[in-house]
Amino acid sequence: MAREISFIFNGNHMTARVEDHWTVLHFIREELGHTGTKEGCGSGECGACTVIVDGAAVNSCLYLAVELDGRSLTTIEGLAAADGSLHPIQKAFVEHGGIQCGFCTPGMILSAKALLDENPAASDEDIQAAIAGNLCRCTGYVQIIDSIKSVRGDEQQGPRVVAWRGEED
Ligand code: FES
Ligand code: FES
Repeated sequence: MAREISFIFNGNHMTARVEDHWTVLHFIREELGHTGTKEGCGSGECGACTVIVDGAAVNSCLYLAVELDGRSLTTIEGLAAADGSLHPIQKAFVEHGGIQCGFCTPGMILSAKALLDENPAASDEDIQAAIAGNLCRCTGYVQIIDSIKSVRGDEQQGPRVVAWRGEED
């Protein structure tokens, strides 16, 4: 059965009809055509599909699209500024070698963003815990953690939508 949902998608209000069984991963990749979110295991084990819903990093392969109704969804496509310049966390991954093959990178960056939005002064342990569910098979966690550490405490750019319950601003 299809239902209409209303939500914020990367800062913009959107309404869409979604099937009950669609995951957010399917919805954003196959229906909306935003392929920055990656599918790895498809079963909640790898974190490649991580997106941010109402400020929290979640596995989009386990999250039903109908549950987005009244919420705010951020994908990797939503991080860059309007002029196309990269978000500071994205820049840090480039500058510190946090991008290797890149497959895990969107999920890593979104887990890091959710953490630093919540706790800009995150400790090393907080950073490790935040990306514990994001597997990198290139095994370069040192560079990934260095990337995140380099931007903690910085003022993050762009609006931060923690939660939205369907009320217009
Ligand atoms: S694809 Fe979602 S956790 Fe692996
Ligand atoms: S950069 Fe290759 S899996 Fe993480």
